[in-house]
Amino acid sequence: MLKTIGVLTSGGDAPGMNAAIRAVVRAGCELGMTVYGINRGYNGLMENDMYEMHLRTVSDIINRGGTILYSARSERFKTEEGMQAAIRVCRERGIEGLVVIGGDGSFRGARDLSLRGVPCVAIPGTIDNDIACCDRTIGYDTAMNTVVDMVDRIRDTTESHDRCAVVEVMGRGAGYLVLNSGIACGATSILIPEVPYDFERDVIERMKRTQRSNKVHFVIMVSEAIGGVAEMAKRIQKETGVESRATVLGHVQRGGSPTAADRILGSQMGYHAVQLLKEGIGNRVVATQKGDILDFDIFEALNMKKEIDLSLYTMSNEISI
Ligand code: F6P
Repeated sequence: MLKTIGVLTSGGDAPGMNAAIRAVVRAGCELGMTVYGINRGYNGLMENDMYEMHLRTVSDIINRGGTILYSARSERFKTEEGMQAAIRVCRERGIEGLVVIGGDGSFRGARDLSLRGVPCVAIPGTIDNDIACCDRTIGYDTAMNTVVDMVDRIRDTTESHDRCAVVEVMGRGAGYLVLNSGIACGATSILIPEVPYDFERDVIERMKRTQRSNKVHFVIMVSEAIGGVAEMAKRIQKETGVESRATVLGHVQRGGSPTAADRILGSQMGYHAVQLLKEGIGNRVVATQKGDILDFDIFEALNMKKEIDLSLYTMSNEISI
């Protein structure tokens, strides 16, 4: 059994990462392991910036957003020199395995370290929900609820002024967050990167059609991968006569206390990761599918493609009129 492991969070933070850290530390301590908390992702690993964590180090964090280990995206770690520096630190500290909590960029680092003899188990923590082997990533549920809460507020003022709100939602290249929160917000149009759109047909004409049935305020939700909400608002105002305002929700979507679903998922995934590592099993991604917790080879996971649920997109178009 492995005696010493490390845990780090990498890439964009996500609510629920702390629940996963807590589970890793508690499960590891329960097995008699030494668990190092590594600060600021792979940067902390290369720079030997870490501390030993105990049962009580992770008290009162399950409810907190962000990550107590801080996070970073590291360019240096992508180089062979950076990778070797990390391996050297692991050797010096006696770290025999790592839990890496982050998105697909962080998984690549975990795969490369595993291939060089440091077994890593990756846990999907990202609000984007863009990990193909996994139905739901840590942070996605919280971010979705945050978007819904923010857009509900925007809707209040939009309704008071008979306006159109054009709202940009995060998700890098993936439309899961905007599509699902858009449905929950009853958006008139949702623009996602996975489906080509025609602005005239999918926004202007849809608005005009709903205007004919006396709709006077509108919410249009747009993926950040498409962007341009300020210009869209101007065009909508010009072509429909409806006063329009643009909002970029931005990083508010990444913060806040995690939902119960994200706390539970983080706990399950953290626990599962330690059960793999205790056997010395690395190069795995923990995932959830249909409520089960599973794991996949990182290389295979990175090569899988996640499809957007087009029936959701179609349904939304048919009922948001
Ligand atoms: O991957 C999470 C995410 O929030 C994306 O939705 C977004 O595109 C990106 O990170 C923003 O990154 P940063 O915080 O580095 O600007």
